[in-house]
Amino acid sequence: MTSRDEGGSGGALVGGAERTNEEYFASYEDVEIHRLMVSDAPRTQAYAAAISKNKHLFQGKVAMDVGAGTGILSMLLAAAGARRVHAVEASGMAGVIQQVAEDNGFGDVIQVHHAKVEDITLPADEKVDIIVSEWMGFYLLHESMLNSVISARDRFLSEDGTVFPSEARIYACPCSLQTLYREQINFWDDVYGFNMTAVKNYALKSKMIKPEVCLVKECDLLAEPACVKRFNLRWVTEEEVKLFAEKTFVGVTLPGAYQGLCLWFECDFDGREYDEEGQELGALITLSTSPMTPATHWKQTVVVLGYGAAHTPGQPALLCQENLNASLDSDTSASPAMNSSDKTQVHTAPPQKTHENGSRGMETETCDNTIQPGYANWVEKDEVVGWKLLFAQSEENTRHYTMTVEMLDPEEVEHPIPCVCPVPRCAIIAKMMEQDEDGNDIIDCT
Ligand SMILES: C[S@@+](CC[C@H](N)C(=O)[O-])C[C@H]1O[C@@H](n2cnc3c(N)ncnc32)[C@H](O)[C@@H]1O
Ligand SMILES: [Zn+2]
Repeated sequence: MTSRDEGGSGGALVGGAERTNEEYFASYEDVEIHRLMVSDAPRTQAYAAAISKNKHLFQGKVAMDVGAGTGILSMLLAAAGARRVHAVEASGMAGVIQQVAEDNGFGDVIQVHHAKVEDITLPADEKVDIIVSEWMGFYLLHESMLNSVISARDRFLSEDGTVFPSEARIYACPCSLQTLYREQINFWDDVYGFNMTAVKNYALKSKMIKPEVCLVKECDLLAEPACVKRFNLRWVTEEEVKLFAEKTFVGVTLPGAYQGLCLWFECDFDGREYDEEGQELGALITLSTSPMTPATHWKQTVVVLGYGAAHTPGQPALLCQENLNASLDSDTSASPAMNSSDKTQVHTAPPQKTHENGSRGMETETCDNTIQPGYANWVEKDEVVGWKLLFAQSEENTRHYTMTVEMLDPEEVEHPIPCVCPVPRCAIIAKMMEQDEDGNDIIDCT
């Protein structure tokens, strides 16, 4: 059991939550987790680009690095010209940051606070101009460090201050999971000549109650990805991340076996603004954890659907629990804040190398396609599929989320407005809104 599944619904609630926090921070004392995060190039390079291409936000400014870890982001902030960087780190890793700062000539700029950000105060009630934090967990919200960033923002950020990342979005897309099904579920159909379908059913059930953290291939995606939730991080409240549910309908673009819902997130760092002469300063940098971009340690999170789930509207397909099935592969790195007991090896398909267009940076992807039309989960091109995704943060322990997926009947359930599905009514509304907004993104996730 890990820091995330203890102290949950049972037992002494306050004690449980405190114990979970202790375990959470203890897990960040494992330097290997930090090596894996820092060496996650798409992640760290996105922060480096966001800071170096938006120097106007940092030069001569006071910054706060919420959850500084080894101090990498604090160093980037100091290198970009920040006057002072408050590096706040609750785990024992805080002990190395001052030395790292001194060794790089930033000893006078970086001020280390070895404490939870919720517990610190700044001298003379100083306000900060910018808060930078790498708080994102699997499917964005796992770990729930966002609550700490919100708390820091509300206490320390100046009125016209900035939060980096500035926006976060959760995406979802129906996907095929043929490799996972073949290797981990259908494997039990015939074992040394014995029928072990009872084990197969057990295996499927156990996959369905916990999301899988794994790499999904772009060619396994069966529709255009849908943005299901958007958070403006300058203004989002703890209340808004506590409980939300989104209905989504999409049109199938690639016929296939609809075996899972693939989730991932993107974060924007938008530092663009105009100076007095009307010149645009800064840049928009996006960190993506999608199957179409180079793999990160977050990989993707997959909700495994049962047989026929796509065509069984109304049934909750899944009541996911907080602890994920996650693999800790050396190629794609860490499962932060996870003890070794969490490291269930999953998805034994070779890690994503690349897409022909080079987006994932390696060789051409191939997808399993042994399943044919007629299979219970088969979906045809242009078929509309829908689901309701509900995220609920635990009251007792805000680091825990329960995620529920319910299949929706596209003919029975009212579609949201706007809706990205190809049903004529939705397409017309989307087109009108697109025209209204002069080419802006028509997927309004608010
Ligand atoms: C995902 S790591 C990021 C570390 C570093 N910023 C980096 O980019 O490599 C998050 C860090 O935040 C720390 N952390 C999480 N919640 C915190 C809180 N409420 N106060 C202070 N530190 C916190 C964790 O101990 C962990 O070291
Ligand atoms: Zn629709």
